[in-house]
Amino acid sequence: MAASDRLTSLTARKSVPLKGRVTAPGDKSVSHRALILGALTVGETAISGLLEAEDVLNTAAAMRKLGADVVRDGVGQWWVHGVGVGGFREPPDVLDFGNSGTGVRLTMGAMATTPITAIFTGDASLKRRPMRRVLEPLGLFGAVAQPREGGLLPLTLFGARQPLPIEYRLRIASAQVKSALILAALNVPGRSTIIERAATRDHTERMLKAFGADVRVESIEDGATAISIAGEAELIPARIEVPSDPSSAAFALVAALIVPGSEILLENVMLNPRRIGLIETLREMGADIEIRNARDNGGDAVGDLMVRHSALKGVDVPPMRAPTMIDEYPVLAVAASFAEGRTIMRGLEELRVKESDRLAAVAAGLKCNGVRVSETADGLIVEGIGADGVPGGGQVATHMDHRIAMGFLVMGLASREPVTVDDSSMIATSFPNFRNLMNGLGAAIEAGPK
Ligand code: S3P
Repeated sequence: MAASDRLTSLTARKSVPLKGRVTAPGDKSVSHRALILGALTVGETAISGLLEAEDVLNTAAAMRKLGADVVRDGVGQWWVHGVGVGGFREPPDVLDFGNSGTGVRLTMGAMATTPITAIFTGDASLKRRPMRRVLEPLGLFGAVAQPREGGLLPLTLFGARQPLPIEYRLRIASAQVKSALILAALNVPGRSTIIERAATRDHTERMLKAFGADVRVESIEDGATAISIAGEAELIPARIEVPSDPSSAAFALVAALIVPGSEILLENVMLNPRRIGLIETLREMGADIEIRNARDNGGDAVGDLMVRHSALKGVDVPPMRAPTMIDEYPVLAVAASFAEGRTIMRGLEELRVKESDRLAAVAAGLKCNGVRVSETADGLIVEGIGADGVPGGGQVATHMDHRIAMGFLVMGLASREPVTVDDSSMIATSFPNFRNLMNGLGAAIEAGPK
C-alpha cells in the first residue's frame, strides 16, 4: 500500500521537558547515492546505517529493475552488487519513485547516457514537480525525453546511444540537477564540466571520489565552482557508513529548543558544511547547540549535538544560506514562531516546487495556529510571539509533505493548545520512527484528531 492510501491524522500536545539521547535515521541524500553508486560499480558495495524509509526503498527497487542486486542483510545493513557504469539493463517495468524527487532525478541522470529506455513515475506530489530542469541538460548528452505536458511525470527517457561530453552552467541551485548530470557524465567518452554558482550539497562529488572516480572540483570566477568528471569511469566498490540526517534531526532539535526544560543529545549527525545552515541560523537566534565529539566519517564531518531549551530571537536569514538549509525552512518557521520578534526568510522560490508548495503550506499552517506571517513571492516573514505565546489549536493541511507534517507536530509540543496534522502517512518517506523517537524523549504525539 502506498503511503498516500493511509490518511492518518496525528495530534501533538504540550510536552514535558524532552530528555535523552537519540539517533535520527540515516541521511536520505547519502542513502540514495549509496544505492545508485553501488549499482554503477562492479563488485560489492557494503552500506551500513541506510535510511530504510519509503523514498530510499523506492530507489533500491529501481536499482533492482535496472539490473543490480540489492540485498538487505540486517537493520540498515545492505549490499549492492552493481552492474558497472553503462551496465544498466532496460527495466522490465515502470520505475516508480513514490514521493522522491531525489530518487527520480538522480536515477534519470544515471541511466541517461546508457542506450536503454525507461519509464519514470511517482505519486501525486511527485507528478506535480518540474522535471525539465534535468531533462533539458540531459538532452545535451544526447538523451531524449517524452514527458507529460509541462515536463511532468510520467515520462519516458531514451538513453543516449552515442553520448557526448557537456559543459553546463546550472541555472538553479539544485544538488539534484547537479548530481543527475554528474552521474550521466560517468558513461560519456571525455570530460564533462558542470558549473554551479551556489554551493549545494556535494555528497555525489565526495562519494564518487571514494568510489575511485576522477572528479575534480575547483573554484572559478565569481565564487562559482567547476566540477569536472572523467567519463567511461570504472568505479570500485566502497564501504559506506551513513550518518544520521541533519534534516531529520532538525525536528527533535527544534523541539528541544522550544519545550521548556529540555536537554537532549542527538548522536552521529552529518555536519557537512553544506548541510548545517539551520544550526548556524538557530545559533544566531540564541539557540544553545553544542557540537560534541566532532569527527571525520569517510571524508565528511559528523558529530553529536547537545541541545538545550533556549530563549530565541527573530533574525534575518541570509538568502545565500538557503542551499545549506533548503529542507529546514518549515521547522525553522516553527522555531521562529516561538522567538521574540520578526524572522525574515528570503531567496526561497525553490520551496514552491518541493514535495508541496512549502511557502504556502507553512504560511497556512502558521496562520491556523495563531501566528502572524506574510508570504512573499520568495519567502516568509514570521512574527514571533515568544516562548509561551503560540496559541496552537490548528488543524494543519500537510499536502503530501513529510516535513510539513513533522514541523507542525513539533509546534504542538510547545503551543498552548494541541496541533493536529491531517495526514501523517508521508512521514514514512523519510523518518518512519518519528513518533516513537519523539515520544521516547517525552513528547506527546498521539493518533487521531484532538
Ligand atoms: C537533495 C537536494 C535538494 C533537497 C532534497 C535532497 C539531494 O533538492 O531539497 O531533499 O539529495 O540532492 P534540490 O536539489 O531540488 O534543491
